[in-house]
Amino acid sequence: MVSIIDILVNKQNLLDKNYVPDNLIFSDNNENNFHKYVDPNSKPCIKKEVFYAFQKLQASAASEGLYIIIDSGYRSYEYQQKVWDYNVEKHGIEHTQQFVAPPGASEHQTGLAVDIAVFINNKYDDNINEDYNEYKWMINNAHKYGFILRYPKGKESLTGYNFEPWHFRYVGYDLATKLHDEDITLEEYYQNKKLSLLK
Ligand code: DAL
Ligand code: ZN
Repeated sequence: MVSIIDILVNKQNLLDKNYVPDNLIFSDNNENNFHKYVDPNSKPCIKKEVFYAFQKLQASAASEGLYIIIDSGYRSYEYQQKVWDYNVEKHGIEHTQQFVAPPGASEHQTGLAVDIAVFINNKYDDNINEDYNEYKWMINNAHKYGFILRYPKGKESLTGYNFEPWHFRYVGYDLATKLHDEDITLEEYYQNKKLSLLK
């Protein structure tokens, strides 16, 4: 079976409306516990291998006193439409275009992306920024568990999104380590790959 862990999904590379990843599992680790969604489309799922990798990451962070959880994992095409509509209503179209993927363009539909939240002094906080110790830890360690910061600061024109310190993408250990060490995005990785084929 072809692995999809390195799939590129962005505003130019869309997923089919009907695409639903295989091996989705329920996770008691994410949003439903905190946001109490009743919409079945927002059921707390994520790809199995991503969940297991995240649990390892979590345990390692916890051993250093940092409590990181999955705030949002898999989102269906329909649910992404709701996220989009809600944000347009609340923040306007310009802000939404910078922070929310249109349906079909979201990595959350792959089941490979996680938005993280943290517990600090037992208080749930989904508004992390680059000053948080948990963010700093993720930047230095997430790749060891196969995750990359997907929308870094300074790469907005490449990724198509504003800096999102909470959105991490599972790509597996080898690719995550490469992208981390070379400080490149998934877009640059694919661009480089194309160029090397032309050589
Ligand atoms: N916030 C990211 C871009 C998404 O909506 O998938
Ligand atoms: Zn996200």
